[in-house]
Amino acid sequence: MIKFYHVYKAYDNRNQFALKDVTVSIQKGEFVFLTGPSGAGKTTFLRLIFRELTPTDGKVVVSGMDTSLIGKKALADFRKKIGVVFQDFKLLDNRTVFENITFVLKVLGYPERFRETKAHNVLKWVGLQHKFNEYPPSLSGGEQQRIAIARALLNDPLILLADEPTGNLDYDLSIEIMKLFERINNRGTTVVVATHDKSIIEMFKKRVIRLENGYLKR
Ligand SMILES: Nc1ncnc2c1ncn2[C@@H]1O[C@H](COP(=O)(O)OP(=O)(O)OP(=O)(O)O)[C@@H](O)[C@H]1O
Ligand SMILES: [Mg+2]
Repeated sequence: MIKFYHVYKAYDNRNQFALKDVTVSIQKGEFVFLTGPSGAGKTTFLRLIFRELTPTDGKVVVSGMDTSLIGKKALADFRKKIGVVFQDFKLLDNRTVFENITFVLKVLGYPERFRETKAHNVLKWVGLQHKFNEYPPSLSGGEQQRIAIARALLNDPLILLADEPTGNLDYDLSIEIMKLFERINNRGTTVVVATHDKSIIEMFKKRVIRLENGYLKR
């Protein structure tokens, strides 16, 4: 599902690499924690999968596609296969939950009925159907993150990427969010969660990929 072959990533022309010689595979249906100290390269790793970045050297293959070879036109279709969740939920405060979730579908011209059905389905998944017409500021932090996760599930993605999704949540809520990721994983979605939360990693007993100073640690 996801393959890194001797991946190097430099942001500028500097000889400073955020990732160095990273070779790793993540299989379809796996649940993986990506961990390591601040600056180790976790976010860079996720952005390479989402094809927000391409490697400076080496190769990233996602769902059979070499991400460096994906053209502008194919990029939107490629990204539909991947859901992304961030630490700061990136919800629009002046848009309802429904509007937040289906914003992209609206831009693409999908009719309202279709968007409503889609939104209802993903909201049911995260247990927040009743918040359909609410605005994000009236929701708790955990609820806002679940809305962001619902939005990431909209296209039924093959892969779900989460970058420190519990960074702004307390311990109990973090566990709740991880259990939600586990349920999403159980229906077949490959899940990659970047976190430095050791207690969460120990509790959930998943595969752990560790980065340190840009290198993969075995
Ligand atoms: N946009 C950028 N431009 C230049 N350098 C960057 C950029 N983004 C990240 N870097 C550098 O790449 C390295 C890896 O950063 P990255 O954000 O991938 O780490 P991280 O493991 O996600 O850290 P954190 O736990 O703090 O989120 C760091 O040295 C960082 O300074
Ligand atoms: Mg990061």
